[in-house]
Amino acid sequence: MVKHRRILVGIGGGIAAYKVCEVVSTLAKTGAEVRVLLTHSAQQFVSPLTFATLSRHPADTDDTFWNPQQGRPRHIELGEWAEVFLIAPLTANTLGKLAHGLADNLLTNTVLASTCPVLLAPAMNTDMWEQVAVQRNWQQLLTDSRYHSLNPGAGILACDRIGKGRMAEPPEIIAHLQSLLYQPQRDLQGKTILLSAGGTREYLDPVRFIGNPSTGKMGIALAQAAQHRGATVTLVHAPIEDHLLALIPEVRRVPVTSAAEMQRAMLSHFPLADWTIMAAAVADVSPATYSSEKLPKRSLPTQLPLASVPDIVADLGQRKQPHQRLIGFAAQTGDIVAPALEKMQRKGLDAIVANPVDLPNSGFGSEQNQAIVLDKQGKKVAIAPCSKLLMAHQILDFVKS
Ligand code: PMT
Repeated sequence: MVKHRRILVGIGGGIAAYKVCEVVSTLAKTGAEVRVLLTHSAQQFVSPLTFATLSRHPADTDDTFWNPQQGRPRHIELGEWAEVFLIAPLTANTLGKLAHGLADNLLTNTVLASTCPVLLAPAMNTDMWEQVAVQRNWQQLLTDSRYHSLNPGAGILACDRIGKGRMAEPPEIIAHLQSLLYQPQRDLQGKTILLSAGGTREYLDPVRFIGNPSTGKMGIALAQAAQHRGATVTLVHAPIEDHLLALIPEVRRVPVTSAAEMQRAMLSHFPLADWTIMAAAVADVSPATYSSEKLPKRSLPTQLPLASVPDIVADLGQRKQPHQRLIGFAAQTGDIVAPALEKMQRKGLDAIVANPVDLPNSGFGSEQNQAIVLDKQGKKVAIAPCSKLLMAHQILDFVKS
């Protein structure tokens, strides 16, 4: 999603600048064109040489404000060049200047001389972040649709405080940059989107369950894409690893374990949802009995009696109002289209994502995915193998259209 794309990175004066080294390094390694500029204070924490090495291009500072070789002001050149502008860490000082349209260094002049989306990743001490003036500036800045925010998280800060002010982590920053390069507008603002993700578990006793290999990556990617595009997102999810959940700190999450719990959660959020996308791999059956004590090995049945579990999306299909859109996934092997069409009709869906799970780099657990998306009007769009985030954006485009 970033190959050959032009990403400008402005570094502010804060210790979190060290984390931006990883962002720049990852972007450059994945083929993006990256240019870095540092404020005077940023250079107290990291050097231009660090970023020149990581980005494979000389880094700019206030000393290169005027480019003698090209004869054009550097802030104009960089501003015209950038497709997206990341400012990280965003300090209280730079935040204040941007909120008031001030420009007294290369970074702030370049912001004013550019028109691309700007992704802001603030980082500062908790008391600084919570100052009325800082919060006023932050809210003021976000009224401008050009600015996109990565709100700081809570944790142990470099000043030993525990509180809000930690800069977003590199994977979260990179995903948001990818989304902005795909869709620079908040085109889903005002939409409420309900998603499900992960594999439900049906327990036989406290330690044994019937499950499946879903990691939740596809559902997390849908949540990221929808949230980056301005939607209000709720994700109902079966157990998912913490490092994946950390990618969506701003998304409302409802953790569940079994299909019955997922059904209750989906039913309670469904009435307010404009779009519902069911990417979870829900168990079709559960053990017919449950033992609250761990069964000794000798007591395990040689044949396991099974009971059926509710079909959540089919239930939602019956409750759907005319203004709502309901999209399912179909995890298939072999022929993917015919069984997906059958599921779409039987479950009362508006569209279905036919997902091959027997191909390399596709389906359960992989970083990539591919699909054929079908709707009940007969529209059919193939999504070629790509990252799950890119596939998520294409699914949202399909539903939007
Ligand atoms: O999580 P990852 O590791 O990233 O993997 C992604 C994925 C492969 C799980 C995902 O892309 C996917 O295909 N999800 C759907 C898996 C599935 O359960 O498919 P299905 O064909 O069995 O079910 C069809 C639809 O009915 C699905 O939308 C499913 O959520 C829903 N369903 C199924 C059973 C049930 N009891 N209730 C349901 O709502």
